[in-house]
Amino acid sequence: AALTWTPAVPPSDLEEFGVAAATVGGLKVALYAVDGEYFATADLCTHGAASLADGFLDGELIECPLHQGTFNVKTGAAVGAPCSVAVRTFPVKLEGGLLHVGLPGGA
Ligand code: FES
Repeated sequence: AALTWTPAVPPSDLEEFGVAAATVGGLKVALYAVDGEYFATADLCTHGAASLADGFLDGELIECPLHQGTFNVKTGAAVGAPCSVAVRTFPVKLEGGLLHVGLPGGA
């Protein structure tokens, strides 16, 4: 399906913690830097009302700040309890100095 590439944040926003929040197309996402590659998931934890962008990134795992469940940011898979439902992932590309998130739909 076609993607709409939506500008989010500059990569420098990810330098300090490896993770940052952005709102793209009305959707809150979390962006991650892992070994020089960029990834994005929905920001909302699938376990409760917590922002994954406020969590702790350890390699390719994001730990939710509320109950310390974990997700793999590359696949969205829930890998640590109490999380059991995958979080949605989105493609990311760097263009013109900004990370862009690919959202389904559009031309
Ligand atoms: Fe994220 Fe519970 S809300 S682990």
